[in-house]
Amino acid sequence: MNYRVPRTRKEIFETLIRGLQRLEYRGYDSAGVAIDGNNNEVKERHIQLVKKRGNVKALDEELYKQDSMDLKVEFETHFGIAHTRWATHGVPNAVNSHPQRSDKGNEFVVIHNGIITNYKDLRKFLESKGYEFESETDTETIAKLIKYVFDNRETEDITFSTLVERVIQQLEGAFALVFKSIHYPGEAVATRRGSPLLIGVRSKYKLSTEQIPVLYRTRNIENVKNICKTRMKRLDSSACLHAVGDKAVEFFFASDASAIIEHTNRVIFLEDDDIAAVADGKLSIHRVKRSASDDPSRAIQTLQMELQQIMKGNFSAFMQKEIFEQPESVFNTMRGRVNFETNTVLLGGLKDHLKEIRRCRRLIVIGCGTSYHAAVAMVPGIGPCEFGALEQPENRRGALSPAAWPVSSCSSLNTWTWSRHLTDCPQKPSCSWPVVSVTDFSPRSCWLQTRQVLEELTELPVMVELASDFLDRNTPVFRDDVCFFISQSGETADTLLALRYCKDRRALTVGVTNTVGSSISRETDCGVHINAGPEIGVASTKAYTSQFISLVMFGLMMSEDRISLQDRRREIIRGLRSLPGLIKEVLSLDEKIHDLALELYTQRSLLVMGRGYNYATCLEGALKIKEITYMHSEGILAGELKHGPLALIDKQMPVIMVIMKDPCFAKCQNALQQVTARQGRPIILCSKDDTESSKFAYKAIALPTTVDCLQGVLSVIPLQLLSFHLAVLRGYDVDFPRNLAKSVTVE
Ligand code: G6P
Repeated sequence: MNYRVPRTRKEIFETLIRGLQRLEYRGYDSAGVAIDGNNNEVKERHIQLVKKRGNVKALDEELYKQDSMDLKVEFETHFGIAHTRWATHGVPNAVNSHPQRSDKGNEFVVIHNGIITNYKDLRKFLESKGYEFESETDTETIAKLIKYVFDNRETEDITFSTLVERVIQQLEGAFALVFKSIHYPGEAVATRRGSPLLIGVRSKYKLSTEQIPVLYRTRNIENVKNICKTRMKRLDSSACLHAVGDKAVEFFFASDASAIIEHTNRVIFLEDDDIAAVADGKLSIHRVKRSASDDPSRAIQTLQMELQQIMKGNFSAFMQKEIFEQPESVFNTMRGRVNFETNTVLLGGLKDHLKEIRRCRRLIVIGCGTSYHAAVAMVPGIGPCEFGALEQPENRRGALSPAAWPVSSCSSLNTWTWSRHLTDCPQKPSCSWPVVSVTDFSPRSCWLQTRQVLEELTELPVMVELASDFLDRNTPVFRDDVCFFISQSGETADTLLALRYCKDRRALTVGVTNTVGSSISRETDCGVHINAGPEIGVASTKAYTSQFISLVMFGLMMSEDRISLQDRRREIIRGLRSLPGLIKEVLSLDEKIHDLALELYTQRSLLVMGRGYNYATCLEGALKIKEITYMHSEGILAGELKHGPLALIDKQMPVIMVIMKDPCFAKCQNALQQVTARQGRPIILCSKDDTESSKFAYKAIALPTTVDCLQGVLSVIPLQLLSFHLAVLRGYDVDFPRNLAKSVTVE
């Protein structure tokens, strides 16, 4: 929104479209804008909606086709809204895309991120009152609801923000909303619950304040009609933000800073249920109830993100750029934290909570997609529904301190076939054994041999959980648990809900995110920013390796006092130091990997197999291939080969095997033999000095080696590159794969 900043309609379009393009990675099956009609004088108020199925470019082209729009017309005050949609309710088409409107006259229009779970009831109610719906979306209910509240207002001078306040009282689910209305020209109202929303502020002039005090309603919403009227009128400079002396100011509402960073790096992050309103160039924030954090103001923060950081540079796709950034991003993750001289690690965000973490019952590491794989990489072989979770109570008990694992253990655990021990346990709630996923005990391989680095370094039991499954199971969480939430965006709805679930149970919550100011980084008790820099490609690459390193650093920090672990710590820290150089070495294999892609890109399937620390590499590699090449791909635990996947092996089926010189090496050799004996033609990712495996390889890609627990950082990169080249050869849009979004802010 611009206030006293003259802008032509063309400039307004460009601002909205550029913002959408930066957000395209969030979802992109359709897009739309709402802007003021031909004249912004009050007497000819009119909102023009332009919506289009497809990407933002299609919308951009459509805008210029609209005959009725004079591009040169200048607006001194103007508020436009725009949205890219990723369908949750209703097929992708122009009618279902946003903005959604209250009626054919576009009296109220709204854009929405999130899901309204009670929309069916609301729709039924509104239909019974005569409101006609045109789309299949949950969002249209909001547009109709605000009109209903407006049509039934008790006083003529009800404020726009009061209407919105009443609307959100009725909404269940998650939302970030921005409203525009012909009844309130030049005014904007935005609010959020569960979905991210921030406001950028730009002005050449000094601002009236750096902290915006939050206004609270004093009484129940039913009784506030008069209060709010006077209250909102009484706004003065202490309760709102504007450029001093009523000068020009621009406000940018966005779900992600990347949409607005080219205009300003000064932002305000809204909290759940904040209602932000801009009228007469003044921004005010109010709430009906006090927030959980009870912070009485919202500060303007300065973001360090620069536009060039989010541009593609010389690469053909953001994903490619991000893969090649890994020597620096991994270094940035460690910068100022790992002291290679003293062999110490300090994560500033966690240091005040170390004592508490050391005393905890267990660590629970929770994430989705790639972030979940980063956690699996630390704890190979564990995970719901994954093969090879070698959780053998006796062994674990021996390996863990009695304080962490109750000696009065549950007898049910003697039956190792339980997959959800605590939820199913007849001894609950007294039983306090952690949940374990037990599906395969036959080969005592993975974790008995390649000790899990987090458990090894922290000497605490570690659970790794997919956020959605963790919630579905109502997993027991205790106040002496420490729960980690791994998320690149810091906004993934499933992870955020799991965080709130753990907070409700009073566990200590730790965020590991790449997005400063994200919901997860704000709502956790403490955390680590992985500092990988903005990641735009939907398929996550550099965030994975930086999350990986962050978890290793956490383990190292926890083990600083352990005399018995000092040699191991030194070995890992030495490994960390040489990692950026080794990543460069792996990246120099790009051409070779491109040649491999040329051989594979017409295939329909691609298996990726490994074990131990590199099981996560296989899961992550297969996910990359699936996400952007649309080929079927599966990450297979090599120990499970003979229990099913071997049936897929023949001359045709391409199978990539990750075989590293680690404690699983001999077992991987067995798998290799099993594949070649069935005429399989394995493509092997192996260590440079491994002459044995390459003898049996159809193709081999030799990688530099590092410490076993860091090897996954190196071995995942060829798979990232391979998926990139396959997608390009197959003619797909690498950065924006179909049906996927970078940040999934719906459950
Ligand atoms: C989406 C993305 C994945 C990502 C996952 C978790 O599904 O497409 O690439 O790994 O969300 O995202 P987060 O931001 O929480 O790491």
